Amino acid sequence: MKTIQWQDDLSIGIGPIDEQHKKWIEHFNQTAEAIASSKSQVQISKTLGFLADYTETHFSSEEKYMQESNYPAFAEHKAKHDELRTTLSNLVRDYQEEGATQDLADAIETFLGNWLLNHIREVDMKFGAFIAGQKNA
Ligand SMILES: [Fe+2]
Ligand SMILES: [Fe+2]
Repeated sequence: MKTIQWQDDLSIGIGPIDEQHKKWIEHFNQTAEAIASSKSQVQISKTLGFLADYTETHFSSEEKYMQESNYPAFAEHKAKHDELRTTLSNLVRDYQEEGATQDLADAIETFLGNWLLNHIREVDMKFGAFIAGQKNA
């Protein structure tokens, strides 16, 4: 299973959020590796749990920051987070019901991995540009 490497083009220019994204990628990679190497169900369930928890921690913190900055695109950004929250809790439920199937591995690698990268590059990046614009104003 493919893991994700942090690259500088993923930086949105807000230090604490970049750090959270790096951690998020680490949790993603640990989950992907646990599934790929058919680690014990306990290990997979643990890494997937960490990933889900960390996603919530990160989304809440990013949303708080957006609200505090009166970010005009807050509602649409939060709607994207909410979609992923739903998808991720479905993945966790599928895992609990069916274990680490190939479908789950594919969903994590293709859907979740791509979502993560696209969201940072397209959606979070706009928030970074907004904050940078405010500092220069
Ligand atoms: Fe975001
Ligand atoms: Fe983010």
